[in-house]
Amino acid sequence: MNKQLILALSKGRILDETLPLLADAGIEPAEELGGSRKLLFDTNLPDVKLVIIRATDVPTYVQLGAADLGVAGKDVLLEHGAESLYEPLDLEIAECRLMTAGVRGAEPARARRRVATKFVNVARRYYAEQGIQAEVIKLYGAMELAPLMNLADEIVDIVDTGNTLRANGMEPRELIADISTRLVVNKAAMTMKHETLKPLIERLRQAVSKRR
Ligand code: ADP
Ligand code: PRP
Ligand code: MG
Repeated sequence: MNKQLILALSKGRILDETLPLLADAGIEPAEELGGSRKLLFDTNLPDVKLVIIRATDVPTYVQLGAADLGVAGKDVLLEHGAESLYEPLDLEIAECRLMTAGVRGAEPARARRRVATKFVNVARRYYAEQGIQAEVIKLYGAMELAPLMNLADEIVDIVDTGNTLRANGMEPRELIADISTRLVVNKAAMTMKHETLKPLIERLRQAVSKRR
């Protein structure tokens, strides 16, 4: 039986918080991650390898079974539509909120609201649920700029301290979802590789609860 597990990690801000958690669970990269252009790494565990990829690609790798399990923000999972993944564990890192936001003091003017976001699926779903007509405009970053440039009336974005909104004359409006980083597992792997996956998930679960 193939016991080899591939764990997909989101690069960027989650990675810095994921590595200490993995270390607490007894998983450590066999070499320095930033030391080269490599993307696939051995670990201290002979059965576990790591891939370091774009956060938005993690659900795709895990859903299609290229990776057996992965670490991704709930925002990314909501946008991907990750019904086809197991989500056995909240890693309780990179906690933030997915919110609507607009220019401070401004009323949402037009009947059909223009909404700039990289979370287009989440935004469409949210405004439809609210019964608000919305034209959703896809951006890849710096959403906070869109209302200032009159590209949009509102944005849907991540809010943590609110500093980015404040610095750009904007205010948070409605909460769409509380966000944290989750462990996701490929459904077939959960069955086929249960014997290696189960103890790994449990060690991570303990590492998370030890921090509370
Ligand atoms: P990206 O390059 O796609 O913005 P990041 O590395 O900045 O990716 O963010 C990765 C994940 O961290 C996001 O999917 C989200 O879950 C979480 N996150 C993003 N911004 C913040 C923040 N300001 N505070 C806490 N968590 C955040
Ligand atoms: C994230 C997010 C917001 C900001 C919110 O950006 O996209 O812009 O953090 O955090 P705050 O409420 O504490 O200001 P990030 O720093 O990840 O920059 P990015 O545009 O490169 O994603
Ligand atoms: Mg970011």
